[in-house]
Amino acid sequence: MRRKIVAGNWKMNKTASEAAALIDGIKAATAGIDQVDIVVCPPFTDLKDAAAACAGSNVALGAQNVHWAESGAYTGEISAAMLKEIGVQYVIIGHSERRQYFGETDDSVNQRTKAALAAGFTPIVCVGETLQEREAGKIEEVIVRQVTEGFKGLSSAELAKLVVAYEPVWAIGTGLTATPAQAQEVHALIRRTLAAISDGATAETIRIQYGGSMKPANAKELMDQPDIDGGLIGGAALKADSFADIIKAAL
Ligand code: PGA
Repeated sequence: MRRKIVAGNWKMNKTASEAAALIDGIKAATAGIDQVDIVVCPPFTDLKDAAAACAGSNVALGAQNVHWAESGAYTGEISAAMLKEIGVQYVIIGHSERRQYFGETDDSVNQRTKAALAAGFTPIVCVGETLQEREAGKIEEVIVRQVTEGFKGLSSAELAKLVVAYEPVWAIGTGLTATPAQAQEVHALIRRTLAAISDGATAETIRIQYGGSMKPANAKELMDQPDIDGGLIGGAALKADSFADIIKAAL
C-alpha cells in the first residue's frame, strides 16, 4: 500500500510573510492528519520563513528546483547544500513551466534529479504531454521518453526514493482536468515504464501524483484510481482550506 502524498506547488506566488501565514493556516486545517504526506513548495525566498512555520508540524518543506552542481558560476541558480541547510526535504524537478519557459530538458532533469537524490532530497519529478502531443497520438512516446531519459542511470534503490508527478500540460491552470480514467491510463503507463527501467517490485512502491487543475471537487475520484498516489496542486494550494480539503480527500 503506497502512502499518499499531496504537495502544493506555489509557483511564483506569496512573499515570505504570506508564506508563513498560509502554512499556519494549513497546519490548523490539517491538525492531526498523519496518514498522508503533506508538502508545501514555496518560492526560494520564502523557504527560511516557511521552514520556521513548518517546524515540528505535519507539513514538510519542498523547493521548486535545484541545480546539479555543488557550487560555482551559475547565476540565478540554487544548490542542494543551500536548500539542505534551510531544512528542505523535497524538490520539484522538470515542471512543464520550467521545460516550456526556461529550457529544461530531459537531460537537465536527469542531472538535477541525480543531484537531489545525492543530497538526500525526495525529488518530485514532473512529466506530461502537451495538448498537441495528445492530439497527435504521442502520449506514450512522450511519457516513455521523459521517464526513460529523465531517470537514465538511476538504480532501483534510487528510483524507489523519488516521486513522479504526471501533469498533462493542457490541464495545468486551465480548469481542464484529465478524467480519472484518462489519468489512470497514463499513471499505469508510467508505472510500466518504471518497471522496465528497474523491476516490478520497485515500480510498485514508487508514488505517482496527478497534477493539473486538481481541486477539492475532483480530488477524491482521481486519487481513488489504483495508480494515483496523491496530487501536485497549483492554484488550489494557495488557500489553506482548499489545500486541506484535497488532503482530506486522500485519507
Ligand atoms: P494547477 O497547477 O493545479 O494550478 O493546474 C498544477 C501544477 O502545475 O503543478
